[in-house]
Amino acid sequence: MPRRLLVTSALPYANGQIHIGHLVEYLQTDIWVRFQRMRGHEVWYAGADDTHGTPIMLRAESEGITPKQLIDRVWHEHKADFDGFLVSFDHFGSTDCDENRELAQGIYRNLKAAGLIELRAVEQFYDPVKAMFLPDRFVKGECPKCGAADQYGDSCEKCGATYSPTELKNPYSAVSGSVPVRKSSEHHFFKLSDPRCEAFLREWTQHPDRLQPEARNKMREWVGEEGGESKLGDWDISRDAPYFGFEIPDAPGKYFYVWLDAPVGYYASFLQLCRARGLDFAEWTRPDSATEQYHFIGKDILYFHTLFWPAMLRFAGYRTPTNVFAHGFLTVDGEKMSKSRGTFITAASYLQQGLDPEWLRYYFAAKLNASLEDIDLKLEDFVARVNSDLVGKYVNIASRCAGFLAKRFDGRVDGAALGHPLIAQLRAAADEVAALYEAREFGKAMRRVMELADAVNVFVDAEKPWELAKLDGRDADLHRVCTVALECFRILTLYLKPVLPAVAGKVEAFLGIAPLVWADVGQGLNADHPVNAYQHLMQRVDSKRIDALVEANRQTLEPAKAAPAKPSKPAGASSGPSTPNTSAGAAMSDAASHAAGHPHATDNPSIGIDDFAKVDLRIARIAKAEHVEGADKLLRLQLDLGPLGTRQVFAGIKSAYAPEALEGRLTVMVANLAPRKMKFGLSEGMVLAASDDTGGVAGLFILSPDSGAQAGMKVK
Ligand code: MSP
Ligand code: ZN
Repeated sequence: MPRRLLVTSALPYANGQIHIGHLVEYLQTDIWVRFQRMRGHEVWYAGADDTHGTPIMLRAESEGITPKQLIDRVWHEHKADFDGFLVSFDHFGSTDCDENRELAQGIYRNLKAAGLIELRAVEQFYDPVKAMFLPDRFVKGECPKCGAADQYGDSCEKCGATYSPTELKNPYSAVSGSVPVRKSSEHHFFKLSDPRCEAFLREWTQHPDRLQPEARNKMREWVGEEGGESKLGDWDISRDAPYFGFEIPDAPGKYFYVWLDAPVGYYASFLQLCRARGLDFAEWTRPDSATEQYHFIGKDILYFHTLFWPAMLRFAGYRTPTNVFAHGFLTVDGEKMSKSRGTFITAASYLQQGLDPEWLRYYFAAKLNASLEDIDLKLEDFVARVNSDLVGKYVNIASRCAGFLAKRFDGRVDGAALGHPLIAQLRAAADEVAALYEAREFGKAMRRVMELADAVNVFVDAEKPWELAKLDGRDADLHRVCTVALECFRILTLYLKPVLPAVAGKVEAFLGIAPLVWADVGQGLNADHPVNAYQHLMQRVDSKRIDALVEANRQTLEPAKAAPAKPSKPAGASSGPSTPNTSAGAAMSDAASHAAGHPHATDNPSIGIDDFAKVDLRIARIAKAEHVEGADKLLRLQLDLGPLGTRQVFAGIKSAYAPEALEGRLTVMVANLAPRKMKFGLSEGMVLAASDDTGGVAGLFILSPDSGAQAGMKVK
């Protein structure tokens, strides 16, 4: 009986690029989905961008575009990345659509009708300048435990303490730099502590057939034992305007918190898919549905998917997920992905470098299992693994045998050879390999398939078709050996197809066979049907290309061009009032100041306003200034750019300023100067200072805005 499955991956935030960490999840899901399709099941794979919330709203504002423009641009980028990595969504939508608004509002109404929504006053930090409530991450200040400066409102990066933003000492708004005030407003809560929710979640999360054991245990800490105490609090699902999201019905100025409408986005995407394909959405989503529903997610968003989402569905009258599959986090060479090391590798950069997406698909498959353990991408191991397994073991079989069939036997296989025991051995593994895919034990599946490939290579090595081909009277043996090897290759291709769909497509083309499905395992090559000439299937990875990839991801942080030249007097009188003989030169880092000697440093021609507009000048608050060991000209500055976050800049102003004199003051910086790696660390921008043409002998003067300017404001 074919099963009917709806499968999703977590919806990526629409304010950033897809990177290889995300790809762990999308590739894991895609492999599973493709496997299920090959099994003949009805599978629908729905995805979408997660578009709402404060960070996206502020990000758009800082880019000078509307949130809709931002999410539209990012949608196209994400779509191209997924297509490039062969992620086979049946539909990829957006949470910012009418279907999602209606579904989210409908769910809310049903929860309310069930008596599970409660209004409660909440006191929160409010930014009086921006006139908005501040999410925890947008309040900064000194850690209440250790006193570290510039810590976020929810946790301290120095000592690891967690707290609420109102506990911070000397809090300030990361959006405007102003001092936030406490303000109360009415919030909507989903009453997870209601006995009905508690009882439901206890049953749902603790069911032995559901959730991974680690996840189930974690949830038990929250839901408690039967009759015991639960730690479930009510869930605050509303946010006040201004907010980019959906308004709550009959509550003007109140919006759904992004995490309320995000999972509903799974259903909105699926609803659009149903409408396009004529599927019955209600039949898939009603409580007694005979269909299955699976969500693949990262372990960081477990609670949302194993507590909030099932409870929302259950009490709004929908079916609940069949299961939620969480995976661990990706590290590269044992460490967190890092922009300065070049290991924060974007999907787009990988594709732009011309690397084969199936290399990464295979590598991740070889590493993945059904647990929540983190996954490490070892760059050297990546090269070795792909080359030895895919090229050395798998492709090698076809490349050594297929040519003889085409050249010597008219492309026809030897029907009598198809009963060879080696073929039977490969076929016999079909159920085992399928069970490993089904259980998301992809690493074990790949190992099993490579063992089989090893067995085939042992056979080919022993029979030596390249020698048989040179001997007289051995044609029958050559025919038999090549047939056995090629039929084995067909079976290996079938087993690898969920991971390597493009290679499988090429193999199907050269074998002249219909797209492989699991049931074709026993359907040997047809002796009456000629195979086409062998076509090249996959290149080896050259480790230099991986070095280049890492370099490219590091380079995006380095100046694309030379740093802006030291400005000089305007060339023509027509371009405005003449300037005094002090130019706003840059207090540049050692490295950047080399660029000042660049040819176009002298006598710049006048520029248009568009050129000027390329320079993103911002008000920065010098949060911290300190000496740099071993540098006699530089100070290390931590610059707070409000909503744009903080930046580290090395500035050549040590001769003119004591660090203590700088801390707390506002200045102007170039915020879009490509970061530069220096001996002392990464310099992520440039502070502006005035000096005379002698290069600062007469003094260096950093700029200050008039009072009232806030960190992050644009200077233009
Ligand atoms: N928008 C939310 C999900 C909403 S689902 C209704 C979100 N977005 S995300 O872009 O931050 O992450 C998307 C998925 O990628 C999540 O499942 C997350 O766990 C996963 N990963 C993000 N970085 C990752 C790694 N470095 N490694 C593995 N998975 C990672 O969360
Ligand atoms: Zn601390």
